[in-house]
Amino acid sequence: MKTALITGITGQDGAYLSEFLLKKGYIVHGLKRRSSLFNTDRIDHLYQDPHESNRNFILHYGDMTDSTNLIRLIQEIQPDEIYNLAAMSHVHVSFETPEYTANADGLGTLRLLEAIRLLGLEKKTRIYQASTSELYGTVQEVPQTEKTPFYPRSPYAVAKMYAFWITVNYREAYGIFASNGILFNHESPLRGETFVTRKITRAAARIALGLQDKLYLGNLDAQRDWGHAKDYVRMMWMILQAEEAEDWVIATGKTTPVRDFVRMAFAEAGLYLRWEGTGVNEVGILDSIDIKKFEQATGLKLTVQGSTFNVQGAESGTHSPLQGGRGGEPRTPNIGTTLVKVDPKYFRPTEVDLLIGDATKAKEKLGWEPKITLEGLVIDMMQSDLKLMKKDQYLREGGYKTLNYFK
Ligand code: NAP
Ligand code: GDD
Repeated sequence: MKTALITGITGQDGAYLSEFLLKKGYIVHGLKRRSSLFNTDRIDHLYQDPHESNRNFILHYGDMTDSTNLIRLIQEIQPDEIYNLAAMSHVHVSFETPEYTANADGLGTLRLLEAIRLLGLEKKTRIYQASTSELYGTVQEVPQTEKTPFYPRSPYAVAKMYAFWITVNYREAYGIFASNGILFNHESPLRGETFVTRKITRAAARIALGLQDKLYLGNLDAQRDWGHAKDYVRMMWMILQAEEAEDWVIATGKTTPVRDFVRMAFAEAGLYLRWEGTGVNEVGILDSIDIKKFEQATGLKLTVQGSTFNVQGAESGTHSPLQGGRGGEPRTPNIGTTLVKVDPKYFRPTEVDLLIGDATKAKEKLGWEPKITLEGLVIDMMQSDLKLMKKDQYLREGGYKTLNYFK
């Protein structure tokens, strides 16, 4: 039975990887930060009471900025595999917290590698480093491969660049089985709420349910190679089972502008957008409604009088784009309403415009291919967020206040 240590276990990838390794029969240890509120939502279903015997899912307090804590834990756990997923992972936020990002994301990786060396675990412990397509930044080649030169464009990417090379260096200097997965963007219903895909699916669900009026975004032109996190955590494991430690690009090979992701997400709720204007003046306007799809997605019933749509039994005070005003009276549909606007506050000081990866090496040497398409990803995220947001709707209908989310 193998033992794994996952740093960043409370994050999107940590949660999926935990499930994956537990199914494979691993004992999974996880590093979690102390926080003043519970931060284990994504892994609560895996939690085992500390009083139980023979636990295979064990959490430890720790932090990537605390060397002694990491050394002690690795000594106690003696892991066969370490998955270093912990990071301040938000690119935009890294411009606000560059020093902390360098410490946690860059030096944090060094601390783990050095712990393996100090504890004499070079031959026992394999380590996976969560490297990123952000390393390519201003891309020097399209698509990007393991050989494409890096040109990082944010404090996050620069910190991850240090982590990438220190992983390579410890592999070459000390013979540690240390591999980088250069993962392109991967998303899921568990994606953090302030990354663009999740921000979009949450807002599309809320707008369809009448809980929010508009979605404000930054650069709609940015293109990303988006895959599903479930496919990517499987590959993390495969990377550590390979014959040799190496670095691997993991991507779908398709790239999509943010604007198109928005269109696809709203369409899943039966709301079709058209785009008008350019730059900061670009807007997404409700162009038409697929009534059947809308009703299936939201559980709401629409009445149609001529070209007028109304939500049957709509509560007074709701803000559905399908309604022209408040109250239960029939209303003119707000086809033509602006649902998406650009807010320059979401622009980054330096942007990564285009990412598209070539994962041929992973396919040929490890037999990895993504199973979930972008369309499948959008459906998964929208179904999940519609379900989640319906809870808000019930609360509002029950007279409770719910939060607005404008991050
Ligand atoms: P995520 O959801 O933001 O999770 C990050 C995890 O790191 C969380 O568990 C977080 O804990 C933890 N963490 C942050 N700072 C820490 C610190 N100082 N000490 C200990 N733990 C800390 O990120 P993700 O999407 O799962 O990504 C996992 C890793 O892959 C990250 O390293 C990310 O940079 C990298 N990556 C992600 C993608 C992607 O598209 N998702 C692509 C390439 C690379 P809290 O829950 O307490 O915040
Ligand atoms: N977050 C966010 N919010 N991004 C927006 C918005 C917005 O309102 N509007 C447009 N964007 C654009 C960003 O400018 C960027 O070009 C793109 O959408 C994707 O942004 P994020 O979803 O925040 O992800 P990211 O690509 O910057 O970084 C993610 O992927 C990396 C792999 O390439 C993170 O998961 C990183 O940790 C990861 O390394």
